Amino acid sequence: MPIISPSLLSADFANLNRDIELINNSQADWLHLDIMDGVFVPNISFGFPVIESFASKCAKPLDVHLMIVNPDNYIDRFAALGAHYINVHYEACTHLHRTVQHIRQTGAKAAVTLNPHTPVSLLEDIIGELDMVLLMSVNPGFGGQKFIENTIEKTKRLREMIDRKGLETLIEIDGGVNLETGRRLVEAGADALVAGNFVFKSADPIGTIADLKNL
Ligand code: DX5
Ligand code: ZN
Repeated sequence: MPIISPSLLSADFANLNRDIELINNSQADWLHLDIMDGVFVPNISFGFPVIESFASKCAKPLDVHLMIVNPDNYIDRFAALGAHYINVHYEACTHLHRTVQHIRQTGAKAAVTLNPHTPVSLLEDIIGELDMVLLMSVNPGFGGQKFIENTIEKTKRLREMIDRKGLETLIEIDGGVNLETGRRLVEAGADALVAGNFVFKSADPIGTIADLKNL
């Protein structure tokens, strides 16, 4: 059974209370939070006042995806908010090893995210320090985009690297996940699936989360 991490980005922000309750009452394992700064990605999502207002109401561990430059400046604040996983982009970190150590020192779990064009082979010398790798299966910045097919082969290559090294590092996939792409990703070796539009734009989000959970 895959870990399911619904993305709040596709929720109804005028009804956040209702949507947090929906997540709390579902089989979702985590809640995925997309933080965008308008610099690393061409979009801005939500900031600390919004996160602080709902973090205490969310019963699920927070899976924070930082699509921002200089993520080191904000790691302590996200950890203080109770972030369970902190995902930083490979492409945004010049000193990735230092950033990963920083995340771990806060007590949060460290995850590195790869854009669609970034090969998994670049993780060879850091993967042993990572709790999770997040593969982007769309270009980051927006929900509701089409799944990039190459992610299936990329997931297999990452699975092979993790197994070859005897590691427990989780593989999470983000973007364009539905029952069809989700099934193929799980077969390829994914442990966790992020789903935004597929969950929140469905007629029955709780049932849709259950369907993903049963993949
Ligand atoms: C995109 C975000 C995703 C997004 C996924 O930049 O990282 O988490 O919410 O949305 P869907 O599942 O609709 O592709
Ligand atoms: Zn995301």
